[in-house]
Amino acid sequence: MAKFYITTPIYYVNDVPHIGHAYTTIVADVLARYHRARGNEVHFLMGTDENAQKNVEAALCGQATGARGMATRKIVQRYVDEMSAKWQESWDELDISNNDFIRTTEERHIKYVQEFWKKVFESGDIYKGVYEGLYCTGCEAYKTESELVEGLCPDHKRAPQKLSEENYFFRLSKYRETLLKHIETHPEFVQPEARRNEIIAYIKDHANDFSISRKNLEWGIPVPGDPSQTIYVWFDALLNYVSANSKWWPADLHLVGKDIIKFHCAYWPAMLMSAGLPLPHTVFAHGFFTVDGQKMSKTIGNVVDPVKIAQKYGNDVLRYYLLREIPFGADGDFSETRLRERYNGELANGLGNLVARVLTMVERYVSSVIPDSGRGSMDSLFRGNDNYWGQYESYMQSLILDRALDTVWAYVSELDTLIDRTQPWVLAKKDDKTRLNEVLYILAENLRHIAWMLMPFMPDTTQKIFDQLGLGKSELARDWEETKKWGGLKPGTKIKRGESLFPRLT
Ligand code: MSP
Repeated sequence: MAKFYITTPIYYVNDVPHIGHAYTTIVADVLARYHRARGNEVHFLMGTDENAQKNVEAALCGQATGARGMATRKIVQRYVDEMSAKWQESWDELDISNNDFIRTTEERHIKYVQEFWKKVFESGDIYKGVYEGLYCTGCEAYKTESELVEGLCPDHKRAPQKLSEENYFFRLSKYRETLLKHIETHPEFVQPEARRNEIIAYIKDHANDFSISRKNLEWGIPVPGDPSQTIYVWFDALLNYVSANSKWWPADLHLVGKDIIKFHCAYWPAMLMSAGLPLPHTVFAHGFFTVDGQKMSKTIGNVVDPVKIAQKYGNDVLRYYLLREIPFGADGDFSETRLRERYNGELANGLGNLVARVLTMVERYVSSVIPDSGRGSMDSLFRGNDNYWGQYESYMQSLILDRALDTVWAYVSELDTLIDRTQPWVLAKKDDKTRLNEVLYILAENLRHIAWMLMPFMPDTTQKIFDQLGLGKSELARDWEETKKWGGLKPGTKIKRGESLFPRLT
């Protein structure tokens, strides 16, 4: 059994999840479900990034100002506890199938980070120096003058803090050549390709040593042997992927947004090399969502709550929309109007209508019993579904998930055409039983295949289709390669046509 270890970024808890966080999480969930179905031993890790200064700012906002030391730590701890619980509740609501959830304030993490620090220190890659720079708490990173726009961080629209303090540094520059070599010899390491070029340029021109501690902070993991210094939040957060359970390391896939590839494709591999650990197989950076064409922001007031959308339309609809709307690797836009259009056009009129059409005909013309396929079902009527499976698998393996869904919808539309061409209602009138049975069998069996392809994307819908086809829960326990073979739906199975899968929205 092959292992498949997949991660999402661990999210800051200074706010609740929005549609962008849900996107990464749902993509990871789709892949985890796909690999589980294929019989791989999947480990899907998520978590919360709790030691960041931005969480402290959020926790103290409006609270006892001037609170220091223990008092601050208590307030922040209570805050991160509450917020982490909220994140976990949101993921439960969205039915995310993660196997573990790591919080960076947990003992397993803190212990590991300190051990890791010591290993890197022993490799000679940590040294003390004075850092002077402009720190943006929004990014939790230092900014160069050239990155600012009129003195402000372009992402957070505020002036970074001027810091000058004695810090520990990590010798990133020492790993420049090795990193470039690794990326060159492992094209799968940074994906998609556009991001690979971006990261190569970054490593060539910028990968300088970076400060990995901050002085006199009230919150965070203390540097081993020097409690006046706190470990820089990225040098702490990245380690969650190993600290959660080192038995799974190395990860097969880190799924991240394009905003944090520098950390995942330059800092992280260099840190791992320094500690003598293997590198993750692939870091995939997806694009970003805007909302109705604008950047999502609290100030604009256009932040979309994924849980509300899921409650309104259903989890599967949200998943389908997000996965279909954002093109592979590129940016996308979230719009509820567009979601409703896709719902009516592709789910209600497309998939839902096809399922209802086929099952109604089975009910009406052959008394709700899957007919015998007679001549073996494969003739001029339908050239088989191997091409759909072939395309689907290849898109899923290369993470081109929107195309995998396009394939399913091409399949749906071929079946619609098949119904129009063969006109089963005419065959029923002519009493052409052989032909009628054959057509209905082909249609129903193909619905089973479509339901399987949709399983990672729309697990509730898949179950509903299986139920309506009379297959029940046992279908889901079948071996993936077996399910792809023609003939899984046995003649004689009694169907149970149920409610419409996607009632039209008005
Ligand atoms: N805590 C760090 C990650 C540490 S991982 C070791 C962090 N957290 S975050 O809460 O800011 O989440 C950033 C991630 O959220 C992005 O990389 C991306 O996965 C997701 N997204 C945030 N906004 C997004 C959009 N507008 N669109 C798509 N994804 C977005 O960075």
